Amino acid sequence: MPEKVISTIDSRPDLAVATPPDLHTDSVTIPVKLCNLPPLNSIANQVLSMSADEDVDLQRLASIVEADPAFAAEVLLLANSSLFGFPSRMHVLRHAVAVLGLDRIKAVAVTVAMRAFLSGGGPLVRQIWRHSAACAIIAEEISPIFDISGDRAYTSAIMHDIGRLGLLKSYPREMTPPLSAEYADPTAVLVAERAAINVDHGTAGAWLVKTWAFPPTFVEICEHHHDPLHPHDSALLQVIKLSCRMADSLGFSAVRYKTSASYRDLLPARETHAKPEEFPSEENLRANVETRLAVFEQ
Ligand SMILES: [Fe+2]
Ligand SMILES: [Fe+2]
Repeated sequence: MPEKVISTIDSRPDLAVATPPDLHTDSVTIPVKLCNLPPLNSIANQVLSMSADEDVDLQRLASIVEADPAFAAEVLLLANSSLFGFPSRMHVLRHAVAVLGLDRIKAVAVTVAMRAFLSGGGPLVRQIWRHSAACAIIAEEISPIFDISGDRAYTSAIMHDIGRLGLLKSYPREMTPPLSAEYADPTAVLVAERAAINVDHGTAGAWLVKTWAFPPTFVEICEHHHDPLHPHDSALLQVIKLSCRMADSLGFSAVRYKTSASYRDLLPARETHAKPEEFPSEENLRANVETRLAVFEQ
């Protein structure tokens, strides 16, 4: 658990801070209301902590999800939706778990948990959530080009902006003005977030997922998804960085930009491992995202 309040920032007692756990920087403060945010969801946490490297016990996985009947019902509903696109209808959770397997159930469980986490949010929350979901759909789509699992890419991508959602949920009054403005680029948004609340959503998200005991890859994704693209990044981080930028270019940005890179400009150079011709067309990708996003609007 985070340490308790140790100081206040300037004349803003509502922005009292706590010391973060060991993120990669040591000069960061975490706003106290973020520290008090409840964990995403204990069932999603347990599912995420199950490792595919172990011989996964699907009976145990089903038992974990079934412990909360409402959560289990949502998992089943979403697993059957066009968002996840399984061709035949599954009526029993244990059947869904057996058919879909661990990585797919992780993706569905995290989506269910995120929707509950965001319920009751206003238009800004909805916009950030749409960006996160679009990023997840794109990440799943382009993941084979980087030789990684679509479900892994989806699950990481849907969490990549959890810091922004957490900050908005904890500090709606402070975060609404900076997230409603128009920016030249994502770096300018990070600067505005730091000016408003002393921390940007990358650091806040990394801190949150670390505090919630998510696997370490989530910490890296949250903390570094706005860093410049780098060929030495892990394949997963490359996919998330690219998907986040592609979501912006396709019109699913979390905040408003004066201009954003075109989809074509985001495609990797020909000499890299991922070839531009392997990526879906801009039109097909946008149509796919819109179709699958419609599930969230129902
Ligand atoms: Fe972000
Ligand atoms: Fe993003």
